[in-house]
Amino acid sequence: MHSIRRCAAPEGRCAPVSETATPATHRRIPSFVHHRTRLTDGQQHAWTQWWPVYGRDVADVVTEAGSGPVDPADWFGRTAPLVLEIGSGMGESTAALAAAAPETDHLAVEIYEPGLAQLLMRITDAGLSNLRLLRGDAVDLLKEVIAPGSLAGIRIFFPDPWPKRKHHKRRLVQPEFVALAASRLAPGGTLHLATDWADYATQMRTVCDAEPALRNTSADEPGGWTPRPVWRPLTKFEQRAVVEGRPVRDLLYQTRHG
Ligand SMILES: C[S@@+](CC[C@H](N)C(=O)[O-])C[C@H]1O[C@@H](n2cnc3c(N)ncnc32)[C@H](O)[C@@H]1O
Repeated sequence: MHSIRRCAAPEGRCAPVSETATPATHRRIPSFVHHRTRLTDGQQHAWTQWWPVYGRDVADVVTEAGSGPVDPADWFGRTAPLVLEIGSGMGESTAALAAAAPETDHLAVEIYEPGLAQLLMRITDAGLSNLRLLRGDAVDLLKEVIAPGSLAGIRIFFPDPWPKRKHHKRRLVQPEFVALAASRLAPGGTLHLATDWADYATQMRTVCDAEPALRNTSADEPGGWTPRPVWRPLTKFEQRAVVEGRPVRDLLYQTRHG
């Protein structure tokens, strides 16, 4: 199965990246690289059974949408505040947060198919009705599918850090991306970021501070960092960062027009 795999994880799960990984037709540098991945038998089973129910490809949604954004109420069968998580990985936080907020609808967009399959298993194990999955590039999703001013929140927890300087241009949180994300937030909507990479945390804060549509809700806190919210689940990924001595930074911005 041809799929796309997480990249630039600090623990070295990613394959080496060459600049030739960027398709020649793509002018924007993607924040991920394509890899061949296999689903486990359990993941494959979940995929076959549940993807048609809970998941859609960004590319398909874009095609269906044709001339405009789609209405999430059609998919969830109700109208509720909608939170988008970008890069849900293996879905630990995603499923826990959806279970903790049944009154809110949750969308997770991810490239990494085994992670999405794992999240399908979590959805069915926990009987979650307020979580839907999208496979594809979050930037395409935001641009083509999500209506301006429509999201209650966007979460980006531990985006690929792309630690080598020559790869920094692949980092997701850049000025153009943050402007796009802010434009999709409803009045008072929030952009919540977390990372264990010190220089990426600083880059995130600089970029978000410079975005006129956003204000840092923790501007008065030391460094402008938001204290770690107790409700954000502690994933294995974050635990490892703590063990390895990398402080985790949260940043919480809100749209100014709220
Ligand atoms: C380092 S992992 C973190 C996963 C998860 N948030 C966590 O905290 O464990 C970053 C994830 O973002 C995904 N990703 C990177 N760029 C993306 C994009 N443009 N659209 C959707 N997912 C993306 C990767 O596939 C990867 O699974």
